[in-house]
Amino acid sequence: MPGSNPQHLGVLPRPTRMDAVQTPIIPTIGAMVRATPGAISLGQGVVHYPPPREAIEAAGRALAEPTTSQYNAAAGIPQLLERIAAKLAAENGIDAKRGLKVMVTAGGNMAFIHAMQAITSPGDEIIVSTPYYFNHEMAIRIADCVPVCVATDEAYHPRLDALRAAVTERTRAIVTVTPNNPTGAVYTQEELRAVNALCRERGIYHVSDEAYEYFTYGAARHFSPGSLPGAEAHTISLYSLSKAYGFAGWRVGYMAYPEHLEAAMTKIQDTVLICPPIASQVAAAAALAVGRGYCEPYLKELAEVRELVLSQLATLAPRVRVPLAEGAFYCFVKVDSALDPMGVAERLIREHKVAVLPGMTFGVEGCYLRIAYGALKKATVAEGMGRLVKGLGEIL
Ligand SMILES: Cc1ncc(COP(=O)(O)O)c(C=O)c1O
Repeated sequence: MPGSNPQHLGVLPRPTRMDAVQTPIIPTIGAMVRATPGAISLGQGVVHYPPPREAIEAAGRALAEPTTSQYNAAAGIPQLLERIAAKLAAENGIDAKRGLKVMVTAGGNMAFIHAMQAITSPGDEIIVSTPYYFNHEMAIRIADCVPVCVATDEAYHPRLDALRAAVTERTRAIVTVTPNNPTGAVYTQEELRAVNALCRERGIYHVSDEAYEYFTYGAARHFSPGSLPGAEAHTISLYSLSKAYGFAGWRVGYMAYPEHLEAAMTKIQDTVLICPPIASQVAAAAALAVGRGYCEPYLKELAEVRELVLSQLATLAPRVRVPLAEGAFYCFVKVDSALDPMGVAERLIREHKVAVLPGMTFGVEGCYLRIAYGALKKATVAEGMGRLVKGLGEIL
């Protein structure tokens, strides 16, 4: 009798495209941290500071407005789109009026997956440099496409010849992330020019994730490839307020993309989000009105924390190699060990009460660990790094 066998109740599990998608590591590590009283997390890539007061106040005022509770334009509310256009022109050298469209999304991750869906058909290839940002690799697979991984050089910078060799008939885009998650590498203007030119030559898109654009240290400078002459025809530039403005929970990101993709992007936005949350957009417009000056003092603090992290790691040389990390708030270290990085991460949490992320999450084999130092005050990072140095010293 149908239904009498419990196995026939409900839907029979079948393979789906999600089987090919890695399980996000941050919730797993987060659960271990919560289960370990007193553990310090150098795991998640968030900043420790709040949004500008003006943004919170603007959102508070917006709550009383009837329009906040209604649907609005798919691409974003006019006041935010205007602020974004002004910011892109002033800071990124991108003229949004020249062949481009701007769309606000619920975070930069959503902009990336929108872009994947807009530019591909199932089975197409997207080139990412390894170590990659894991949500990019996941989004490519969720879009039924194939991530083609190309290793970076020793300093985690892109290898142009290898990228060129990886382009096939099925390639639709090359992705760059600079300043980089997970490595902290800041690509040079020449490198980004070369990638952008390669994409143009081969008739593919350059997807440029600039979520950490404000987070550079020392002489490193951020460069937006979307500002290059002719780039508007094939460059999709992605941005986020999560890091710069302490906005992670408000979920606001945006992209500037070639106007020929407008119909596709609008279909996706209309189906997935309809419109970005209005209260968040009002807050974002107010944050952009305050401007990047808001995060400058926090960046100074972060620069000091970074010095501390690097000096602590230096004590582990030569068993731990730390390539130059001039941006974002990450270091991606190579540990000279045959141990499995997940095992090392687990022991660091359990035995030494400090959490980092294992390298395989970022698509590299070998004992690599990512250290994130944006989320904590200097004294806490110092304590966490002390535990990490002691822990690695014991484990290795
Ligand atoms: C490279 C990169 N892009 C995008 C994002 C996602 O940002 P959002 O919170 O805007 O979705 C992150 C978050 O860690 C990131 O590291």
